[in-house]
Amino acid sequence: MKFFLDTADVVAIRKAKEMGMCDGVTTNPSLIMKSGRDHKEVIQEISGIVEGPISVEAISEDAEGMVREAEEFSGWGRNIVIKVPMTKEGLKAVRILKDKGIRTNVTLVFSPSQALLAAKAGAAYVSPFVGRLDDISQDGMFLVAEILDIFDNYDFDTEVIVASIRHPGHVVEAARLGAHIATVPAAVLEKLYNHPLTDRGIEKFLADYEKSKK
Ligand code: E4P
Repeated sequence: MKFFLDTADVVAIRKAKEMGMCDGVTTNPSLIMKSGRDHKEVIQEISGIVEGPISVEAISEDAEGMVREAEEFSGWGRNIVIKVPMTKEGLKAVRILKDKGIRTNVTLVFSPSQALLAAKAGAAYVSPFVGRLDDISQDGMFLVAEILDIFDNYDFDTEVIVASIRHPGHVVEAARLGAHIATVPAAVLEKLYNHPLTDRGIEKFLADYEKSKK
């Protein structure tokens, strides 16, 4: 499974890359705002750090505007993918952009039918938002399983990005299901490394080593 970082924080991105845990990056307007940086400037910097796909979200609500933005954003780096919302206008833009050779990530996917339509429209990626479904007492990971089942039946090139990840369990379940990608917030990535028994084990081994020294 590929790991994307779900952040616009370049320090976190550099750290994850150093560990070999950053195959790509997803951003959205909220994450860019959180970084406190200029949109274009931060995307260009991220694109210089990470070789894999960098998702940048279109803001327009009509297909024409999304295509215009996609053409502009694509000039910011060689690896830019355009995030398009799961709307009829969004899917219209996906088709046009595919013909222009611009890859898209259909975002805000909350049902298997939306993912199916996005794949048929030619999206390179679909992003089911598992955490936001869990937040309203629905099962986000069940949606991922349904989408993967559907995609398994056909020859879609579309990859599934498990998005809106809230905790390590989401990442583990994404891998168990065989999702192509998990886009992970930096704080969740940190938690994936840890286990209290590992810490306790190291402490004990070090203590015993000290005792065994003559
Ligand atoms: C990624 O593509 C999404 O923008 C992100 O995972 C949304 O996460 P949130 O639901 O925590 O805002």
